[in-house]
Amino acid sequence: MTPRHIGFIMDGNGRWATAQGLSRADGYPAGLLALRRVISRCKERGVEAVSVYAFSTENWARPDSEKEAIFKVVDTFNRTYDGDTKITYSGNIAMLPDYLEDSICEIEDRTKDNPGTVLNICFNYGGRDDLLHAAEICFSHGRFSKETFERALASSHLPPLDCVVRTGGEMRLSNFMLYEAAYAELIFLVKNWPDMDETDVDKIIELFEKRKRTFGA
Ligand code: IPE
Ligand code: IPE
Ligand code: MG
Repeated sequence: MTPRHIGFIMDGNGRWATAQGLSRADGYPAGLLALRRVISRCKERGVEAVSVYAFSTENWARPDSEKEAIFKVVDTFNRTYDGDTKITYSGNIAMLPDYLEDSICEIEDRTKDNPGTVLNICFNYGGRDDLLHAAEICFSHGRFSKETFERALASSHLPPLDCVVRTGGEMRLSNFMLYEAAYAELIFLVKNWPDMDETDVDKIIELFEKRKRTFGA
């Protein structure tokens, strides 16, 4: 079965740029081109939702120049996107620079009625923060059940996370969708994110389809 929801940890942008003799910041526009290829193939393959990890709560520790490069790429994407995908953001958007918060609200609003595949961009997102936030909501409403808790997670509008793919060779989750990944199939690829293309999506789906999922049974 095709995965309904794939999460991509888009790692290796900086290393890709360094290997090309470019500055690390040049890896992010190249990463955006890869994202467009990956999304377009996911849509063709009928994947319902794609979550991408673009900036973690820990990435504030990066140099200012690198953060600004990432913010600029995302802002340009938001302002120029003219496709037909519904785009949502997960993470603490209010902490971002005003111009970026504005373009995020604007693209979410502009694409909210688009049918088909959802692209969920995890930005200033951390799995632990999201879990604590959901717990806080349940606590303040005085209702703590599996249902109210899951409704309070940033991913509540998405199907169950079937598969997590991390590029760049590291084999860890780095605080990505910790609750949702409980039974996700994990796929680690050596290639850096900017090298991803449509054929990689086909290979990922093929790998996923070969996995035997038992959910503990
Ligand atoms: C991942 O790419 C994307 C972000 C953290 C924004 P990196 O910037 O971590 O690239 P590498 O892993 O250092 O090559
Ligand atoms: C994970 O990559 C975060 C994103 C892809 C946005 P990092 O490069 O920040 O993670 P670590 O430092 O390798 O764990
Ligand atoms: Mg990295």
